[in-house]
Amino acid sequence: MEFASTIFIYTFCLFLSYHFLVKILKPIVVNNNNDDDEENPKLPPGKMGWPYLGETLQLYSQHDPNLFFATRKKSYGDVFKTSILGCPCVMLASPDAARFVLVTAAHLFKPTYPKTKEMLIGKSALFFHQGDYHSRLKKLVHASLSPHRRLRHLTPRIQSLALSSLHSLVASSAVVSTFHELKKYSFDVAVLAVFGEVVDGRCKRELSRNYGIVEKGYNSFPNRIPGTAYHGAVSARKRLGEIVREIIIITRDRRNKEKKSSSSVEKEGLLGQLLDFKDGEGGTLTDEEIADNIIGVVFAARDTTASVLTWVLKFLADDHNLLQAVKAEQIAIYEANEGGGECLTWGQIRNMPLTYRVIMESLRMASIISFTFREAVADVEYKGYLIPKGWKVMPLFRNIHHSPEFFPDPQKFDPSRFEVPPRPNTFMPFGNGSHACPGNELAKLEVLIFLHHLLTNFRWEVAGKANGVQYSPFPVPLEGLPARFWKEPLSSSTPLKHSCNPF
Ligand code: HEM
Repeated sequence: MEFASTIFIYTFCLFLSYHFLVKILKPIVVNNNNDDDEENPKLPPGKMGWPYLGETLQLYSQHDPNLFFATRKKSYGDVFKTSILGCPCVMLASPDAARFVLVTAAHLFKPTYPKTKEMLIGKSALFFHQGDYHSRLKKLVHASLSPHRRLRHLTPRIQSLALSSLHSLVASSAVVSTFHELKKYSFDVAVLAVFGEVVDGRCKRELSRNYGIVEKGYNSFPNRIPGTAYHGAVSARKRLGEIVREIIIITRDRRNKEKKSSSSVEKEGLLGQLLDFKDGEGGTLTDEEIADNIIGVVFAARDTTASVLTWVLKFLADDHNLLQAVKAEQIAIYEANEGGGECLTWGQIRNMPLTYRVIMESLRMASIISFTFREAVADVEYKGYLIPKGWKVMPLFRNIHHSPEFFPDPQKFDPSRFEVPPRPNTFMPFGNGSHACPGNELAKLEVLIFLHHLLTNFRWEVAGKANGVQYSPFPVPLEGLPARFWKEPLSSSTPLKHSCNPF
């Protein structure tokens, strides 16, 4: 749609005078190399720092990288330049600028990741692509995560996973790292969404073990020295590819035996959709392309969702009155379900207004994807500034989410601010445009389900008073929020009787 309308606008403009084009469409015109100084756009303000190093040391010497962006925004405004790790960058700290890069002029900016990271996910994963290949794959990922077609059917299974996770959290009365434990839950949900019912317990354990190793190496120094975290991650990524290819073969065999040529999305999840993929000429995906995409989606789903859920538990633990109000909302549903004897319904999950606002406010406060990267594929002009071809651009989501202009008193945790929708393009926890997160509904669903069961049958207490943030690489409460969990049912009456009760 965006692409078609851009083509239309460009064609239309050919009929108009040069001056009209320059004056009216100036913000989205690729630099025209006009020699006239008045007309020539200039680089944005800001410092490029030292040769090669740029401002890398300044960025990494601050405990909170967002301070680096916030101080420069104060000095230079919403659009400023810097240089990080040898890459010249333009930082964008306004909703309009972020929309320009991610939506209106998205065709002028491509996704960009270091090759060493791309290797650990898989070069064919949709994150790294744009155009036809990206949009076809994105449609499949969307379909496999669509709320009405797919997620509502997954609800009972996700409830079982939430309960199972809560029971293992209370199995020992020890203090645990909440983030670390919740990663197991978000991993299980991601595996369910991606593989449906096709993986057994052994496979899942192997996947989980190797994901853990890839994750450790993902943010370490890339090298080929055996014994290092990065080297270990490369080997673990190879094993992940082998496991997924094994699952692909088993799934194809089963289809052959059942004489089925295509999938049932419930049974095979995203994997089934990828196996059925056909491009315009009837071409299919290779097993490697399927594996890269499967591995990429699980990677994108796990730590992000666990991080947000950890923040929700922290914010609730910090505010007793809010906790009681959210609990009351959940208890009303619990009682309507015969004291938890019935599974949560889709309708009930979609009608938890206060709990939902707490999740929205946690997404804003924590802004776990603080920014994203793109690279200009041509010289681009934005509001009189030149973004040269090859430069990185970084829409700064967190700075926008923490701007008092859009979110008054931004450091205050206040779910009531979401009683009215935020102004357009000011709230982008899941990104914007063609690369926006296809898993956002699943993430919210699994957090809502987990909270319902936690608040109605369990309790938790944060250990220690340390208030701080740790980047791993997403911001999480210090040490992953050490806490103790225990069972405290509202009533000892009716046990859960549906398949969502695994016990
Ligand atoms: C609270 C949890 C989550 C947050 C905050 C989050 C955030 C984001 C953001 C900001 C982007 C866009 C990045 C960019 O534009 O460069 C993104 C992309 C993506 N996310 Fe999520 N995400 C979450 C959960 C999930 C889940 C549960 C899944 C899958 C089940 C998922 C799959 C993806 C994929 C595949 C992409 C790449 C899309 C593309 O390139 O077209 N995410 N996510």
